Amino acid sequence: MILVTGGAGYIGSHTCLELLQQRYSVVVLDNFCNSKPTSLHRVENLVGGKMTVVRGDVRNRALLRKLFTAYQIDAVVHFAGLKAVGESVQQPLIYYDNNVVGSVTLTEVMAEYGVKTLVFSSSATVYGDPASVPIREDFPVGTTNPYGSSKLMVERIYRDLAVADPTWRIALLRYFNPVGAHQSGMIGEDPNGIPNNLMPFIAQVASGRREHLNIWGNDYSTPDGTGVRDYIHVTDLALGHLAALQALQDKDGVLTVNLGTGQGHSVLEMVSAFEAASGKKIPYRIAPRRPGDIGACYADPALAAQLLGWRAELGIDAMCRDAWRWQSMNPEGYFETERVQELSFA
Ligand code: NAD
Ligand code: UD1
Repeated sequence: MILVTGGAGYIGSHTCLELLQQRYSVVVLDNFCNSKPTSLHRVENLVGGKMTVVRGDVRNRALLRKLFTAYQIDAVVHFAGLKAVGESVQQPLIYYDNNVVGSVTLTEVMAEYGVKTLVFSSSATVYGDPASVPIREDFPVGTTNPYGSSKLMVERIYRDLAVADPTWRIALLRYFNPVGAHQSGMIGEDPNGIPNNLMPFIAQVASGRREHLNIWGNDYSTPDGTGVRDYIHVTDLALGHLAALQALQDKDGVLTVNLGTGQGHSVLEMVSAFEAASGKKIPYRIAPRRPGDIGACYADPALAAQLLGWRAELGIDAMCRDAWRWQSMNPEGYFETERVQELSFA
């Protein structure tokens, strides 16, 4: 059985779907601070399978102990955490508590129960402003905000843990820019308030919920001057977690791997691709650079192919098509009303 922390969230829900489809048993632990149980309900309906869903916090040691006692957990996929860069600058302690303390508590309890296989959500943000692209895993790391620092700290803690006890099997997955939605249009990204990230913002402009897109700068040293990123379809990303779980089955130690496509796309390219996918015009204005942004960031995905036997399959047309399907089928995101059966371990 796989414990998925933060499984109701954007990437977690897509990963739960793929896990169920591959016949894994899944128990989700989520406090729903940035998600709704509806996503899991929809995953169950899509797959025609069941998960165990526990409402609770990954920092709650007593609850974790109950979970590990009640279920035969073989491995953990750890998504639970906070991810808003701006908010992390305003409220650093909340970020360090949730992301770092949560990750430490989880592994302490895992060790108590002899469960030592772990897949962790890291981020390309650990590379800071890279000296060159494509980015390889051995590039220097460095961060510019508490969110990024919390990810880097957890990476370091987990590496130290695997040195102290080499029987740990840990995959540190550095995601590039996850976008898109499941092809059914039934699950997707449901940001609170005004989206910070490009793709959900474009989707809301296309649906008429926002008037225009601000493009943060067109004076970067990129082909058209706008920022270049490695957008990866969330289904490809989800499958990367299954590949990591497989790879850890016969490998002690730590795998540190980029999950990206290796392709960089500019903001303007994404706007065109979304217009083509949706048939809608995306009005935009060029605005000043966003503080903290970098020009170009995309992965060298070779190590993931080598170590995990995984590579991204879907391109930006599929990403935009599926993001648009999700957006048009769910203009206001998830409804609160669809519920899954939750277990109470209180
Ligand atoms: P998300 O906010 O949609 O999902 C995170 C889930 O964790 C949510 O369901 C939330 O309710 C839950 N959660 C948060 N704190 C918790 C806690 N203390 N206890 C239990 N549950 C908790 O985010 P996502 O986009 O799915 O990201 C998943 C992970 O991947 C995060 O760790 C994030 O930092 C990381 N990541 C995301 C991106 C991205 O662009 N989406 C990029 C790189 C890394
Ligand atoms: C953001 C996070 C980063 C995280 C990454 C992956 C910030 C500062 N960084 O990075 O930590 O790892 O997401 O999810 O939030 N853009 C616009 N207009 C918009 C929104 C974005 O022009 O309204 C541009 C940005 O300038 C950038 C590109 O679109 O060039 C992508 O932006 P975004 O989706 O926010 O991702 P990142 O900046 O890569």
